[in-house]
Amino acid sequence: MSAASRRLGILLSGRGSNFEAIAHNVLNGRLECEIGFVFSNKPQAHGLARARELGLPCGSIDSAGQDRAAFDAQVADLLQQNRVDLICLAGYMRLLSGEFISKFSGRILNIHPSLLPAFPGLDAQHQALVHGVKITGCTVHFVDENLDSGPIVLQSSVPVLDTDTVGSLSARILREEHQIYSEAIGWILKGNYRVEGRRVIKTHN
Ligand code: GRF
Repeated sequence: MSAASRRLGILLSGRGSNFEAIAHNVLNGRLECEIGFVFSNKPQAHGLARARELGLPCGSIDSAGQDRAAFDAQVADLLQQNRVDLICLAGYMRLLSGEFISKFSGRILNIHPSLLPAFPGLDAQHQALVHGVKITGCTVHFVDENLDSGPIVLQSSVPVLDTDTVGSLSARILREEHQIYSEAIGWILKGNYRVEGRRVIKTHN
């Protein structure tokens, strides 16, 4: 299957700026694939409204109060019905069940706003400021059963300025997120990589 006929599933919970950056790159031909389905666990998510406006296949199920495994089974069904090849978490604020992760093993990517393994979890930009690091950034990684811990696909560094607030630092990191997520997706869809332990290594097949 060529990369162009591959189908992305995008999972989001909020603003959806990473989703929009990916969609923009797909629509203008810089990223060769299709958006197969956009899913939100928050029916009111701004990103979901944007997917609708763009005429993309999309849907939501409210996750509030739902059992994790049963909820994820419904999400998996939706993604499979829409023949999704690669799942991209784009601000999806819900932990995935082990069953979901094994069903799509090696086919789920996430973007995180720090240079992992530093500052996993919530408020990574705040954590970086409080720790006093001079450089932070963002990471695209495969998703495994632990939080923000799977093999790293791409990273981009961002300087921390003395004048930075969480807002200014987050904005500077976000610009890099919008670049590297599409780059990583394009690479992984082409299949020119192998995973050795924790290392994602470029190949030339
Ligand atoms: C981004 O900072 C991403 O790294 C993190 O959640 C945020 C989502 O932003 N996982 P958006 O919804 O894509 O604008």
